[in-house]
Amino acid sequence: MKPDLKVKIGRLELKNPVMVASGTFGSGEEYKDLLDLNKIGAIVTKSITLKARKGNPPPRIVETPSGMLNSIGLQNDGVEAFIKEKIPFLKTIRSAVIVSIAAHSVNDYVKLAERLDDIKRVDALEINISCPNVKGGLEFSREPVSAFEVVNAVRRKTKKTVIAKLSPNVTDIATIAAAAEDAGADAVSLVNTFTGMAVDIDTKRPVLGNIVGGLSGPAIKPIALRMVWEVFKKVRIPVIGMGGIMDSDDALEFIIAGASAVEIGTANFVNPKAAVEVIDGIERYMRQGRIKNMKELIGCLKV
Ligand SMILES: Cc1cc2nc3c(=O)[nH]c(=O)nc-3n(C[C@H](O)[C@H](O)[C@H](O)COP(=O)(O)O)c2cc1C
Repeated sequence: MKPDLKVKIGRLELKNPVMVASGTFGSGEEYKDLLDLNKIGAIVTKSITLKARKGNPPPRIVETPSGMLNSIGLQNDGVEAFIKEKIPFLKTIRSAVIVSIAAHSVNDYVKLAERLDDIKRVDALEINISCPNVKGGLEFSREPVSAFEVVNAVRRKTKKTVIAKLSPNVTDIATIAAAAEDAGADAVSLVNTFTGMAVDIDTKRPVLGNIVGGLSGPAIKPIALRMVWEVFKKVRIPVIGMGGIMDSDDALEFIIAGASAVEIGTANFVNPKAAVEVIDGIERYMRQGRIKNMKELIGCLKV
């Protein structure tokens, strides 16, 4: 019997639990000749802001042992260009579309949510709250009060499924997840990148133009997995796990630890077919283990 890979995130039903992570898959179109986009559970598009942003000065990428540092700095053409130029292509595919939004004020997050609420092809919003608040300087996701404030403000303005994407650069991520749940998020996704840096010992300068960047890839997997487990124990809403998932075994670790779905990020740069291979691998594992549906698998960790 074919296992049932469907999962529900808020009111959104995905045909399988595998998504591609924001910022690593463009808006989907960039990958159209490399894999069958219709097979992916959901495409999370690169974070967009209200107005266009140029991003950070180069260099913006450094390879690290078992991972990479990036400091792209939210380069994008703004929400209006996204709607005009990216939505028409997204209308031609059958995967769910989750649009990642980013801003430096609660008001701008609200404006983005309102603008996207009318766009039918957008199935859900992922709120990237790892952005510094212009008012306080600190990232919204750094403390529960500001995380609550931004998620709640977006929740009030949209009927779409709301996913709060959490930063791992905090003392207790489960507390932030609980604040997002209280604010009305339908799900939380974690983790975003870990802040890091690299130094060029010849020039004695930072390698990245922005000095610091975000670490992703296999190097962060055990920490991300631990955080997913902690959040799963704390909240009742679905948890979407990511951080260093390179293959289906990695994805299954997250699902067993409590993730209802996973996002594939850095792996897309190494193997553009990674997401489809992860879906096939999960299906194979379920078939071999006679697991009928995702409910039997999510959070089944034996402790
Ligand atoms: C080049 C690059 C760009 C990224 N851009 C974004 C972004 O725009 N918005 C966002 O929420 N996360 C962004 N991320 C973070 C990823 O979505 C993901 O949370 C993180 O990389 C951890 O997953 P991974 O180890 O599988 O890559 C970016 C990551 C990379 C490597």
